[in-house]
Amino acid sequence: MKINQLSLYNYRGYNKQDIAFSKGVNLFIGNNGSGKTNLLEAIYFLSLAKSYKTDDANLIKFNEDFSRILTTVDQSKHTLKIKIILSKNKKKIILDGREIQKLSDYIGQVNVVSFLPEDMNLIKGPPKDRRYFINSIIGQMDRNYLIELSNYKMCLKQRNDLIKKLSEEKKPDMTLLDIYTEQLAQAGEKIIAYRQKFITNMNLELKTIYPYLANNRYSFEFKYKPSIDGLLESVLKENYRKDLFIRTTSSGPHRDDYGFYMNDIDAKDMASQGEQRIMILSSLLAVTEIIYEYKHQRPILLLDDVFSELDTTRQNKLIHFLNQSDLQTIITTTSTTNINQEVLDDAKIFNVKNHFIRGNKHE
Ligand SMILES: Nc1ncnc2c1ncn2[C@@H]1O[C@H](COP(=O)(O)OP(=O)(O)OP(=O)(O)O)[C@@H](O)[C@H]1O
Ligand SMILES: [Mg+2]
Repeated sequence: MKINQLSLYNYRGYNKQDIAFSKGVNLFIGNNGSGKTNLLEAIYFLSLAKSYKTDDANLIKFNEDFSRILTTVDQSKHTLKIKIILSKNKKKIILDGREIQKLSDYIGQVNVVSFLPEDMNLIKGPPKDRRYFINSIIGQMDRNYLIELSNYKMCLKQRNDLIKKLSEEKKPDMTLLDIYTEQLAQAGEKIIAYRQKFITNMNLELKTIYPYLANNRYSFEFKYKPSIDGLLESVLKENYRKDLFIRTTSSGPHRDDYGFYMNDIDAKDMASQGEQRIMILSSLLAVTEIIYEYKHQRPILLLDDVFSELDTTRQNKLIHFLNQSDLQTIITTTSTTNINQEVLDDAKIFNVKNHFIRGNKHE
């Protein structure tokens, strides 16, 4: 999947901006506050029809009434024409000349994998962040996963409501709890199976990507840490007393976690900032491969401020890797002083200044 042309009108700090991307590596260089992240956010918007960090109203340029994103994105057999108009209380998406009525019909058309500075929380942050990461990736590949996930959430809510009610009764009748537990277990086992399959694939991809980028002999494995050991239904049933006491469902996929393991030790306890960054980047590149195998199209890769904390060798290895790959990558950086000229020669370079973007002479 490749984005060709992008026109921004009154988006964030941009007034009127046209950009023509290359099919390979696109490097946007500019000072702090110049509009680099805002540009990536506009591309990210194309995937989920929302920003990852704010409400739609904040995307409209200060003191303006609406903003517009116009773009063409090449899929393997078709070029999508997308027009998005954001006004204060309304979002309009026009895909190939037809207005989208239900957002869920649009989501999934443009696949994007992104590395944002916030993603550094993935290793050290709370399990909720890692679950969000996994859910959004598997969901992007397979809509059925999202359907199963919302079914699981419904069963969970139903069971939790019942548990609260039963916990207040002197002699609770467990018949209905048995039924709700069996339903929850059935829905949960499906989620666990999707996640296990994804993690097995992820580790297969990491075996080649990680050693190259990390430039070391450590091993890196992404580990699933399910909240249960054994069959979900039996564990849920064994925990009736506990669940009634704490008035909620104490185990199941909603409590799963994952770990980034370096040489069999959880990276959150030992990896340096740069090492963590390489682990996250390798994971995202692995994800692009998995999406490719599944959808036969590579997602667009967005890398925001990716070079900070990486040493010169690893910065060059990363760009070299991306130049060789079939991925369209959009990278932002404040400086390219550490990057080799021959590596830069293969990329399309843009300068960003006060929300104004200019393609470089050497493009
Ligand atoms: N709705 C808006 N209208 C006008 N300007 C905005 C709007 N939203 C954000 N900005 C401006 O955009 C700027 C931030 O841009 P951005 O985050 O893209 O910078 P950046 O180039 O990524 O910087 P850094 O290198 O520090 O990450 C801020 O100065 C902010 O005032
Ligand atoms: Mg930024």
